[in-house]
Amino acid sequence: MNNRELETYDVVGVGFGPSNLSLAIALDEYRALGAEQEVSRLFLERQSAFGWHRNMLLPSATMQISFLKDLVTFRNPASSFSFIAFLHASGRLPQFVNNQDFFPTRQEFHQYLEWAQARVADRVSYGSRVTAVRLPEGADPEQADRLLVEVADPAGRGDRVIQARNVVISTGLAPSMPEGTTSDERVWHSSEFLDKFRRADPRELNRVAVVGAGQSAAEIIRFLYDELPHAQVYGIIPSYGYSIADDTPFANQVFDPGAVDDYYYGTEQAREAFWRYHRNTNYSVVDGDVIRDLYRRCYDDEVHGVRRMEFLNLTRVAGVKRAGAETRVLLQAGPDAEVRELDVDALVCATGYQAMEPTGLLGDLERHCVRDGAGRYRVERDYRLVTNPDLRCGIYLQGGTEHSHGLSSSLLSNIAVRSGEIADSIIARRAEHGADHAVLAEVGGDLR
Ligand code: FDA
Ligand code: NAP
Repeated sequence: MNNRELETYDVVGVGFGPSNLSLAIALDEYRALGAEQEVSRLFLERQSAFGWHRNMLLPSATMQISFLKDLVTFRNPASSFSFIAFLHASGRLPQFVNNQDFFPTRQEFHQYLEWAQARVADRVSYGSRVTAVRLPEGADPEQADRLLVEVADPAGRGDRVIQARNVVISTGLAPSMPEGTTSDERVWHSSEFLDKFRRADPRELNRVAVVGAGQSAAEIIRFLYDELPHAQVYGIIPSYGYSIADDTPFANQVFDPGAVDDYYYGTEQAREAFWRYHRNTNYSVVDGDVIRDLYRRCYDDEVHGVRRMEFLNLTRVAGVKRAGAETRVLLQAGPDAEVRELDVDALVCATGYQAMEPTGLLGDLERHCVRDGAGRYRVERDYRLVTNPDLRCGIYLQGGTEHSHGLSSSLLSNIAVRSGEIADSIIARRAEHGADHAVLAEVGGDLR
């Protein structure tokens, strides 16, 4: 197949979580402004249907941001894709308001995301895992105005290649396990929790342990304690006790859209201050109400003379030995890192995530990307990777820009504004380069 026979789009989105869903909506809304604002677009998602951290949709888990930080409101408060529009369409806007709560459950927010994605689903190809983004064989980067996106179908229905003038990579966080530990049927990362839990026989889960002192760990401990009334539940926490997530108003300003400029254009010293003073708004911290919920359960147990929840504090997991149904956890505890062992029926590693890292997808294109002195990608304010001037196509990142754009990079807080900025940039750069609309999409034309 020659290149002219391939589907070609102005924008191909890699991954279709909330970030690229927000971009899909932004591009849809720009289209309403006139033909010159229209871009052809396709989003590729490896899952077979939309899902946002499905394995952590625990019944009582609530959102960690206000519902007003939805897919659109901070960019376009009049959008028909807002959380309020969703509530209205669902017929429960008055009931929601009666609740007087800024923080819906994650299950309800998931319903909102599904409702929104259904309205742009004709631009999305599910069951499509992107394996590489590259230049066409033998292409001169200066001449090439398209990238090739290689797509595998996890269901085995055949691989394909798509052409893109711009690629927006948004593949999300990567689960992180304790060193030397791999996940299997008895050792789970929090990102696989509900799926693995549902597959296990609860009667075989008499001793379960959860590693970590972040929000995921605290929510999972609460869930296991409630779901397994016969079980002993251990919390293996590196701190002395859970620390609270700072969501007080002044600190919360680090997630405001304006904070991105303060971070991006700030000095190295200013950027370092963001992390030093405000890491505790998000990482290794737990919402106050979840902490109190857990403590209340421990105290009630004490009143009844039982101790079903046990915390091994100042303790880290140093390894796991597995043999059949036996799982032995190696613990390093206390100031002199004394090694202890704990036998459990299941171990949940709520040990966090690594930032999005597009290097694996970019392969040889890496040669055209510019890195800073610390080896990190240089990224423009509009989230476009800085590339050698010879590369004409745009590679944008949604996520993986904590070093350049700050704390909100991996979160929902700023996705509405960020998506608008990326859409602006793509449209403005196209106008600059005088792209010929007539050849925008050879096969993709019907999707515009
Ligand atoms: P996200 O990870 O959601 O989506 C990436 C998508 O890309 C996935 O659907 C994945 O399948 C797909 N993908 C990956 N590789 C691919 C490939 N090669 N080809 C095709 N598709 C690929 N933040 C916040 O601000 N408020 C909150 O309340 C929460 N709550 C929360 C709960 C839990 C349990 C976690 C783990 C995290 C949060 N977060 C959060 C942070 C979280 O990063 C954020 O909510 C969004 O998931 C970010 O959306 P993205 O679309 O960037 O990534
Ligand atoms: P996290 O905040 O990064 O916490 C990971 C925890 O694991 C930290 O306490 C870390 O300790 C600990 N840890 C790592 N390796 C360890 C080891 N070997 N032994 C013992 N402890 C170890 O990760 P998270 O809790 O998954 O949260 C990630 C993101 O998801 C956050 O943005 C969070 O807000 C979000 N989230 C939101 C919700 C919700 O919306 N309801 C639910 C869950 C998660 P150190 O810090 O010492 O390394």
